[in-house]
Amino acid sequence: MLVDTDQIHLRAGGTSVVVLLDQHRLPRILHWGEDLGDLGAEELKHIALSARPAVGDSAVTYPQPVPVLGQLHEGWLGRPGLTGDSNGRRWAPEFLTTAADLRTSADGMALTVAAHDQAYGLSLTLELEVLAVSGLVRQRARLRNDRDEVFRVDGLELALPVPADADELLDLTGRWSLERVPQRRRFDVGEWVRASRGGKPGLEHTLLLAAGEPGFGFRSGRVWATHLAWSGNHTLAAERSPANIRRLSGVEGLAAGEVELSEGEEYLTPWQYGSWGNGLDDLAARFHRHLRASAAHPTGPRPVLVNTWEAVYFDHDPDALARFAEEAAAIGAERFVVDDGWFLGRRDDTSSLGDWVVDQERWPDGLKPLADRVRELGMDFGLWFEPEMVNLDSRLAAEHPDWIFDAGHGPGLPSRHQHVLDLGHPEAYAYVLERMTTLIAEVGIAYVKWDHNRYLLDAGHTPSGRPGLRQQTLAAYRLMDELGRLHPGLEIESCASGGGRIDLGVLERTQRVWPSDCNDPHERLEIQRWTGLVVPPELQGTHIGAEESHTTHRSHPLSYRAEKAIWGHLGVELNLLTADEETKRDLAGWIAFHKQHRDLLHTGTSVHADLTETAARLEGVVSEGADEALYAFSITERPRTWPVGRVGLPGLDDARTYTVTAVFPQGQRPPGAQPPWMSGEVTLSGRVLRLVGVEPPSLDPDRSVLLHVRAV
Ligand code: DGJ
Repeated sequence: MLVDTDQIHLRAGGTSVVVLLDQHRLPRILHWGEDLGDLGAEELKHIALSARPAVGDSAVTYPQPVPVLGQLHEGWLGRPGLTGDSNGRRWAPEFLTTAADLRTSADGMALTVAAHDQAYGLSLTLELEVLAVSGLVRQRARLRNDRDEVFRVDGLELALPVPADADELLDLTGRWSLERVPQRRRFDVGEWVRASRGGKPGLEHTLLLAAGEPGFGFRSGRVWATHLAWSGNHTLAAERSPANIRRLSGVEGLAAGEVELSEGEEYLTPWQYGSWGNGLDDLAARFHRHLRASAAHPTGPRPVLVNTWEAVYFDHDPDALARFAEEAAAIGAERFVVDDGWFLGRRDDTSSLGDWVVDQERWPDGLKPLADRVRELGMDFGLWFEPEMVNLDSRLAAEHPDWIFDAGHGPGLPSRHQHVLDLGHPEAYAYVLERMTTLIAEVGIAYVKWDHNRYLLDAGHTPSGRPGLRQQTLAAYRLMDELGRLHPGLEIESCASGGGRIDLGVLERTQRVWPSDCNDPHERLEIQRWTGLVVPPELQGTHIGAEESHTTHRSHPLSYRAEKAIWGHLGVELNLLTADEETKRDLAGWIAFHKQHRDLLHTGTSVHADLTETAARLEGVVSEGADEALYAFSITERPRTWPVGRVGLPGLDDARTYTVTAVFPQGQRPPGAQPPWMSGEVTLSGRVLRLVGVEPPSLDPDRSVLLHVRAV
């Protein structure tokens, strides 16, 4: 439908976006957030009128609603929308809207706006969508050069406005094996900018940037957040102007000359997503619904897997691994994943990346006999690759040194002894595709653990030396898509030294992310909680590791390690060949418990209580119809006061009655006196459970108890 009004109301999935389109200006968002109901044309006009602030004496920095793409020409002195030029000219565009089209479908509502800068010979198409399943908003822009003069794009940044009530910012940071640590600050005048420059989002990547009412938590406080669906360089920014305009923006990071448009050529930005909620649970649920509805989302139960990495590292012995697979099947595993160490000459992390042929010395008969045995045992077979990487000590590097990134000063600093293979070379890309697809077919690989352990630094394409970062991300996407097409049903895990590549771009083509190399449940509790702002439990790999964590050297009983792993895509990453019978029996019990509840855990709504006691956590999953829920109450350190006080159970139906039972899948009850109700069960309404709650168990640090809730 061609739009002939100035105010447009996009409404889907509980979200409203009101857009102003008058005076041929680019779209300005007057409201993004809670559904406003059915608004008539008159009311929309009045929204536009009442949204217009007083204009002071400066006509340049006037505080009017700013378009989703800010322009200098219109007086916007904040973060620029389009930056680019043709040899120093065509640098300050003025796009004017020439047409707008509004479509409603089962997917939601989509507004497409065509705009032109006649003087500069540039065309812009803006797409703004509100999605029906999730209530997410997303937007992207397509820029076309209409003139016979190269236009170089340095950045094309879109922004979503948030109201003045959003006065507190939340983003995440982190490092290897400690990803997704939250940090908060006031939304002051200025910019709070989080940039990823290493060719992937990175271990310190924020996942999203949120602005909300001061003190917003998981259950309350209106909050808005943005995320860019892009696995390469990018920046998220929260900006508050002196005129109190508050915006959340996202932009792909482009290196020098990465996008140079000849006449007729186009540049398309990644989707910038926006989610809002009453509390973070509500905001996260939109991302979860969106991912669950996506074409890439795995169908069927997530197979419990056993991974060899922390069990044997590089020490590959086919007979031992066959016995390992037998033990895996015996405890109930459904997938067996051979991690790093299977390819030509790979004995440690100093060599062989790129030589994707099975090591003959270690594996004289190849991987197929093991894969066949794994299938005989009723599991499917997974294999580790690091397709975008190369060791200088490899056959590949010796034969094709020119396939290694080099911006003019050699291959640069190694990291984990490795360098990056430039997939921008069609032959390099074809080589990796051929190696992977051949092995997938020959061995019968159902699952690829796709690793990425080095940041891209001065990643120059040889021989020109021009930056190859953007092309590398696009090539990795292409490779994943092509493998998916060639091998229907193939699953891919996005791993990058742990949680270094987690975003909605990679999740369009992968079925699992590896949130962290840290299997310590103390850390995992937080890492999974914050990764969960975007990624639902079933897409997060969660493994039961060794008693003494390999990354933190803390020790935990199996009950705590297992409890923290059962929520996600469960795996076991400890040596079953050396594990004692009791451990294997308990593992089997926890796996059986997970299987019994995984439908609930992997389709329900994730909830988190906002507890004042900082040493306590309560989180869980409530089934879609709110007839069942599982919660974990955990103590992470010694609380200052004891008991910590009753905890409410969030997410249930106020009007229904539930029984609450503490469950101990392998029988281990916490020592010491426990609240009396825990020796049986209590029956209470959802309303009482939410507002009055129950007295939690008495626990030592790094211990938890599961609470199973069923509607009567
Ligand atoms: C880093 C990954 O995060 C680990 O899980 C493991 O696959 C190693 N790489 C293997 O080198």
